[in-house]
Amino acid sequence: MNVVVIGAQWGDEGKGKMVDYLAQNAQAVVRYAGGANAGHTIVIGDQQYALHQVPSGILYPGKTVYLGSGMVIDPQALFEELQMLKDRGINWEGRVFISDRAHIVLPRYRQIDKERDAARKRPIGTTGRGIGITYSMKSERDGIRLADLDWAEKMQDLEKEDLDFLEQYKEKLISMRVNISSEMWKYRNKNVLMEGAQGAMLDLDLGTYPYVSSGLSCSAGASVGSGIGPRKLDKILGVFKAYTTRVGNGPMPSEFDENSQSELYKFVRDTGREYGVTTGRPRRCGYLDLVALRYACRTNSIDDLLLTHLDVYDSLNEIEACVGYEIDGKIVTEFPASIEDLNKAKPILEKFPGWKKSLKECKTFKKLPKEAKNYIKYIESYTGTKIGIVSVGYERNETFILRNPWKK
Ligand code: GDP
Ligand code: IMO
Ligand code: MG
Repeated sequence: MNVVVIGAQWGDEGKGKMVDYLAQNAQAVVRYAGGANAGHTIVIGDQQYALHQVPSGILYPGKTVYLGSGMVIDPQALFEELQMLKDRGINWEGRVFISDRAHIVLPRYRQIDKERDAARKRPIGTTGRGIGITYSMKSERDGIRLADLDWAEKMQDLEKEDLDFLEQYKEKLISMRVNISSEMWKYRNKNVLMEGAQGAMLDLDLGTYPYVSSGLSCSAGASVGSGIGPRKLDKILGVFKAYTTRVGNGPMPSEFDENSQSELYKFVRDTGREYGVTTGRPRRCGYLDLVALRYACRTNSIDDLLLTHLDVYDSLNEIEACVGYEIDGKIVTEFPASIEDLNKAKPILEKFPGWKKSLKECKTFKKLPKEAKNYIKYIESYTGTKIGIVSVGYERNETFILRNPWKK
């Protein structure tokens, strides 16, 4: 069975934690989009891992992981990450493979990315990892794929600087290179997890363009990026936080307040430890945006939602969620494409009583306080999508299942 895990908001929803949790029942994990712009955190006991390109299944001994065709691979950062894993006792040799169709990020693309964003009239606030540049080169048909590394004619066209860089990694990359479509065929009767990066609202087509990343972070990207057809995606799971966060620029209609100085803003940022894994930037925080979440559910065919960070709201008397936008005096409940409309949008809030107790020890839906159940049921009814897993802390075991993710 093929199960896709995507971010259903603007990234950092807890995909790494969820993929790690679900990987116990998978034989292989494929990261299908993005590159070193992602930062996926996994906490196991007193050990914390921040993964950027390596799929989150790597921490289980014996699981095979694939970096898919939809990814843009930064070889330098990748081998540093693999070295970090080795230094921490994670033996990865022989179980990390890369699609021969994945594109390569050259060091100068990172520089160009930073310079271009700084020169923009309205900067996106990219991670500076060369992501947009590499995907542009890909669209221009001038990119370099792993498959091209031993294409002598193509290599001859490269600048010396690029060639010297690639030379350092060429043999290692070739030894890990696979035809991912044939690999997936071998797993056709097994369980495979497809790990998304970024989130639905950062997807190039579906997101808040141009304030998006450049890859296919939508569920459809799992098909292209893993070398399997769309009808073979058996289940699509969308991870979301009990509130909303966003890093970088662009509209965020449910942001708590503009100057980020309110008590609620500081409380959520500190309690949720809302600082970027890749760049360390403080994340913008806001109410759960149900308009955006429902849009993500519909455009990605999300079967089940996976709720994280419910514990962050443990001590609040009252919780609010955004159920519509007011734009030019009109009430809007369908997510707009226009950035101007989104910038003008004022959140319409619905209030919910808080549960005022720690959820850390909760291991079943039944054990949740009725106020938390009420919040969950409201989200399900607004989005028309069931919640399949609830996470009440960052640790692997602070998680419980409501609906079996491995059942069609
Ligand atoms: P990803 O990019 O979607 O994998 O998410 P990140 O790792 O960038 O950010 C999620 C952060 O929230 C990480 O620090 C996780 O350890 C943490 N986290 C995940 N789930 C929960 C949860 O249910 N509660 C709390 N408090 N933290 C969580
Ligand atoms: P994970 O997988 C949150 C954001 C950047 C910026 C925009 C474009 O950890 O959820 P890019 O460098 O990709 O061209 O930047 O997208 N962004 C993310 N925000 N989580 C991520 O990944 C992100 N990857 C990119 O902050 O606003
Ligand atoms: Mg992240």
